[in-house]
Amino acid sequence: MDYFSRFANKSVLITGGLGFIGSNLAHRLVELKARVTLLDSMVPDHGGNLHNLDGIQDAVTVNFSDVRDPHALRYLIPNFDFLFNMAGQVSHRDSMEKPLIDLEINVASQLSLLESCRRLNPEIRIVFASTRQFYGRVKHLPVSEEHPISPTDVNGVNKMAAEWYHLIYHNVYGLRTTALRLSNIYGPRQLLRHSRQGFISGFIRLALQGRSIQIYGDGNQLRDLTHVDDVVDAFLRAASAGAVGKVYNVGANQAYRLSEIADTVNEVAGNKSPVEFVPFPEEYKKIDIGDFATDFSKICRELSWFPKMELRPGLGQTINFYRKNLEHYLGPEQ
Ligand SMILES: NC(=O)c1ccc[n+]([C@@H]2O[C@H](COP(=O)([O-])OP(=O)(O)OC[C@H]3O[C@@H](n4cnc5c(N)ncnc54)[C@H](O)[C@@H]3O)[C@@H](O)[C@H]2O)c1
Repeated sequence: MDYFSRFANKSVLITGGLGFIGSNLAHRLVELKARVTLLDSMVPDHGGNLHNLDGIQDAVTVNFSDVRDPHALRYLIPNFDFLFNMAGQVSHRDSMEKPLIDLEINVASQLSLLESCRRLNPEIRIVFASTRQFYGRVKHLPVSEEHPISPTDVNGVNKMAAEWYHLIYHNVYGLRTTALRLSNIYGPRQLLRHSRQGFISGFIRLALQGRSIQIYGDGNQLRDLTHVDDVVDAFLRAASAGAVGKVYNVGANQAYRLSEIADTVNEVAGNKSPVEFVPFPEEYKKIDIGDFATDFSKICRELSWFPKMELRPGLGQTINFYRKNLEHYLGPEQ
């Protein structure tokens, strides 16, 4: 499917647009000649970063508002053809420590966003950034969309609710929504300064600093890491297809053990410090999902999407980016 011309001159809103995935999507949409607006409230400790717009600052409009503010949304929503809904609280650990904030951002604001779309712009095309997290500790690998859902943490429950709201607003009101359940994503423009949004940014930070990567447990857990360019491609395919009211898994060709991923990050970054295995902190072990590998055959079949970037070259490209831009992605560790 060729979507390259579909976004030219179209008005596109990306919530969470200054964050990792949203800003990579913005760069691609600018190339595709879309008129791009980024809504972001730059929540502290989330991935919003002005440097993520380096090279496209003059080509996009930035709106510093919050998806929790229905009044701001009322003025924004009527103006767009596409909505890529990325604004979210991403950290599983934070969702356990501050569950009500996760509820506000990942659930209440999503409902209010959908309400604004239903009332003010029912034709808008919406793609929601959902997650594979709420499959929980899975019964078999790889995991397809048919696998039962069993979240292990507050974030999983809230993202699941948000995904269902998107589907219900399609089923009941005809809103044109699609949800993509993402695996672990990596690539340029990701928050590096702490590891609470996922292990890969911590691995990359430590390797670039020449420090030991620490792995909780024995390092045998399987994860499939999807490069952000492939994720952007999935969002654009979903938005330009007629796949409304559907959910799709988005993942990588191969799952690797965490110890293999750490070794590869160290090799690519030239880090000689050995990987350390440390006991799993009890509070994180309780919410860990164990092994995961994605069955993404549905999106291959229906939207002709498949992941193109393999792990080693993807890490090479990512680490090159951070070598050049590291000062913008490191801050006080938390
Ligand atoms: N990164 C991953 O591995 C991954 C995996 C599965 C799902 N997702 C989902 O993808 C989406 C984007 O994730 P990301 O990795 O780009 O995270 P990110 O933290 O880099 O970006 C999220 C952006 O949303 C903004 N934001 C948060 N709350 C907001 C609010 N109330 N109003 C306005 N802006 C707000 C933040 O400031 C940030 O810039 C999230 O919804 C996340 O749940 C990400």
